[in-house]
Amino acid sequence: PVLVVDFGAQYAQLIARRVREASLYSEVVPHTTPVQEILDREPAAIVLSGGPSSVYADDAPGLDPALLEAGVPVFGICYGFQAMVKSLGGNVEHTGLREYGATMAQIVDTDSTLFNGQPDEQSVWMSHGDAASEAPPGLRVTATTPGASVAAIEDDERQLYGVQWHPEVMHSTFGQRVLENFLVRGAKLSPDWTPEAMADQLVEQVREQVGSARAICGLSGGVDSSVAAALVQRAIGDQLTCVFVDHGLLREGEAEQVEKDFVDATGVDLVVVDATDQFLNALAGATDPEEKRKIIGREFIRSFEKAARDIVGSQQDDEHPVKFLVQGTLYPDVVESGGGTGAANIKSHHNVGGLPDDLQFSLIEPLRTLFKDEVRQVGLELGVPEGIVWRQPFPGPGLGIRIIGEVTRDNLAILRRADAIAREELTAAGLDRDIWQCPVVLLANVRSVGVQGDGRTYGHPIVLRPVSSEDAMTADWTRLPYDVLARISGRITNEVSEVNRVTLDVTSKPPGTIEWE
Ligand code: XMP
Repeated sequence: PVLVVDFGAQYAQLIARRVREASLYSEVVPHTTPVQEILDREPAAIVLSGGPSSVYADDAPGLDPALLEAGVPVFGICYGFQAMVKSLGGNVEHTGLREYGATMAQIVDTDSTLFNGQPDEQSVWMSHGDAASEAPPGLRVTATTPGASVAAIEDDERQLYGVQWHPEVMHSTFGQRVLENFLVRGAKLSPDWTPEAMADQLVEQVREQVGSARAICGLSGGVDSSVAAALVQRAIGDQLTCVFVDHGLLREGEAEQVEKDFVDATGVDLVVVDATDQFLNALAGATDPEEKRKIIGREFIRSFEKAARDIVGSQQDDEHPVKFLVQGTLYPDVVESGGGTGAANIKSHHNVGGLPDDLQFSLIEPLRTLFKDEVRQVGLELGVPEGIVWRQPFPGPGLGIRIIGEVTRDNLAILRRADAIAREELTAAGLDRDIWQCPVVLLANVRSVGVQGDGRTYGHPIVLRPVSSEDAMTADWTRLPYDVLARISGRITNEVSEVNRVTLDVTSKPPGTIEWE
């Protein structure tokens, strides 16, 4: 792999992504990893990430010079660049001149390894206080910026390279080209990695890990758990049993999509637990959002736990213990929790909710090295239906938190029809991939006066909440075309008699959250 040494910047993951976009497999390792351990992984190249501190700060993370002398090509970025300059005998100083944001870099040599084929002036994204003022012996300066006389260094002989700016962010116009030049021209790597090609390898790993034991998987119908299940199914066939808890708060066609389309496409052995009555009884009378969420979470754990016990009880024997729980953990979660490699042994499972102590599983997390878009590609490769692979996010508590007021069968039926119409029209308009998600909300505790078919009505409003986002942490309301909105509004008020008004939520996040509850 190409290893990205994380010096504590939020950019390390992004660098790993960019390396993969250049068709080379990469992983992030913490800067505290001993050099020998890094080298034992036989990295094809090493990238040193940026970091928050000054190389002169007391707590500045160090760079072991052995890493630069191991014969492995190295590319230093920002802090990693400065640590490299310092370690190789150059000079880094407090210039007092802070460079932050976009600036223009002057490329000294457009024939160099890093800048080959690029213009001699390019916009780059900076974020630094210290600056290198003198290149280490043997390294030549190939770029400068207004705030840094040494902004890029190269040594083809020792395959050592570095830039002061952040090539991984989009604002650095030629950033990806610089990174690719390092990987291909500097480190001489052949870009041939694809997530699809990884599917086979992952299947093989799971097969080895599981042996003749059995595994269960909680399926939500979302992308991650579906692809994880499909992958493990490919590896161990009917040694895997999936559990899908239908809480009765799903959208139209959703349970069928999992039950039928997914099973048809993947051959997964699926146990569907119809827990609608259980959930709706428990939710009766509840209108407070937090109370609803707690009830749904609690009932979910109960249902899953019971199904897991039943499966363990009916399938387990000495030769085939139900030993594994499959989970769709993705790489960003692993990196964020500072995780390494290997499967952790767990007692309780926080995604599914605490499983009882006497049910002990080892985890199988086949997607733990992949990013979301890569998971989608692996899913397509495994034959997971496109309708599931490209699904927009849908909250675990489902329509239960999209009915403002009490969650009843009648209210669910109204919302389900309105939601189906909105989704149909958005899909027909080709907007599915332009929007992040579009919650459709029923204001069950609000009524307004309308006129439908010559008569007075006193119905409920529906709220459309289309949002654009990159990670759901922040969002903006999507400017949907008026004619699409008109079609959705016209159809809902015509086809759903309880609804006489359709409104559009034009609030960004913050201050509004994406969901209404
Ligand atoms: P908010 O409403 O907090 O939502 O802006 C951010 C994103 O998270 C989804 N969401 C959930 N997903 N369980 C989930 O699996 C939940 O309880 C939950 N609540 C919100 C929401 O749809 C949006 O994508």
